[in-house]
Amino acid sequence: MKKSEICIIGCGYVGLPLILALSRYYNVTGYDINKERVKYLNKKYKKRNFLKTKNLINFTNDFNNLKNCKVFIVTLPTPLNFKNLPDLKGIINISRKISKILKKNDLIIYESTVFPGATEDIFLPQLTKFNKLKINKDFWIGYSPERINPGDKKFKLSNIVKITSASNKIGLKKVNNIYSKIIKAGLYPAESIKIAELSKVLENTQRFVNIALINEISVLCRKLSINSSKVLEAASTKWNFINFKPGLVGGHCIAVDPLYLFFKSKNFNFPNDLILSSQKINRYIPKFIVNEMIKNKSNNNKKTLILGLTFKEDCQDTRNSGVFDIIKYLNKNKIIPDVFDYNVKTKPLDRNLKYNFINKVKRKNYNNIILAVIHKKFKKLGIVKIKKFSYLKNVKIFDIKSAFKSEDVYFQL
Ligand SMILES: NC(=O)c1ccc[n+]([C@@H]2O[C@H](COP(=O)([O-])OP(=O)(O)OC[C@H]3O[C@@H](n4cnc5c(N)ncnc54)[C@H](O)[C@@H]3O)[C@@H](O)[C@H]2O)c1
Repeated sequence: MKKSEICIIGCGYVGLPLILALSRYYNVTGYDINKERVKYLNKKYKKRNFLKTKNLINFTNDFNNLKNCKVFIVTLPTPLNFKNLPDLKGIINISRKISKILKKNDLIIYESTVFPGATEDIFLPQLTKFNKLKINKDFWIGYSPERINPGDKKFKLSNIVKITSASNKIGLKKVNNIYSKIIKAGLYPAESIKIAELSKVLENTQRFVNIALINEISVLCRKLSINSSKVLEAASTKWNFINFKPGLVGGHCIAVDPLYLFFKSKNFNFPNDLILSSQKINRYIPKFIVNEMIKNKSNNNKKTLILGLTFKEDCQDTRNSGVFDIIKYLNKNKIIPDVFDYNVKTKPLDRNLKYNFINKVKRKNYNNIILAVIHKKFKKLGIVKIKKFSYLKNVKIFDIKSAFKSEDVYFQL
């Protein structure tokens, strides 16, 4: 199949590494609606020698350029809408567009995270809207969820086992033939597309629910004046205790995927409210942190510095970060914090939140310093230097991730 055209639809966190990996074996086109991104990617990657490959790599925002592609891999976002419901509009529309250029023997693989049934029940009917082609006779579909973890230096596309699935055995062979070239860790062919879809949302839901439980215990510990890290340390001495840490739950995977799963399970009548209960406690955590900060009334309206704005450590992505919720509750209490993050160079788009985005921390009379996201650089700085960001000796340190010794900080979850 060498030299056949593969296109990746959506050149973001998931799409780009895939394009770069596949371009070692195929001519690849990356399609994205974001013109600026297409311009940037063409400038950076188009030169043949950059990737030491003889294959062509091209980025475009013109859908007509995908006409000759034989394989379409969809890596578009699957967010929640303002009602917290799955928003599949992007993938539905693109599937309909693909149906206009679909040819015999084409293969469409979806990688975006979805609830079980979305690929076959929602996307597949769109693929035949403007043609008379028949699934498993004229064309095939596959589903292969992505598992990359932004900021993770150890686990990358090629060394994470990839789950694959397809509309039938012939389709699965085609899907596996492509991924086996780039995934060194091996493939796990699932028995059906629905199994693959559900397995992906389950992975993140398991983390979501477990973190919620530990968050609940942490709040309880605070009420009981018990150190939660010491409780976790003690419990971890049992061989089968699973060591989750309390914390903010944000980002576009762990905070979103469980709600995709709930959207599906709520159609059935059984006690299925574990995800919603977990969401309730996880969403309470930012409020709890701020409440702990202002519970002493005299602490109101005091100077606050937040360190870290991304949704997790050592990445640059601020989308859906839980830190915005801390800022929201601070604002509700008339506190406008300074926010600094080594990894974020420009202030994220306005969300009607009030905060001073600073590019360098200048020593001030901060009353509170919230260590929200502990990038390696913050950890390396050490608690002594962090405390020196404030002139005040009694500055209160809120160490959300329990990165430092409990005796050196005022608050830990
Ligand atoms: N980022 C992760 O760590 C991660 C990990 C596993 C799974 N996923 C899943 O993978 C999917 C993609 O996530 P992502 O993080 O790569 O998203 P992303 O936002 O980084 O990238 C999506 C890209 O698609 C483009 N785009 C949006 N709508 C488009 C359209 N209609 N036509 C063409 N291009 C369009 C955007 O401009 C963007 O460049 C989601 O379903 C996500 O849940 C993400």
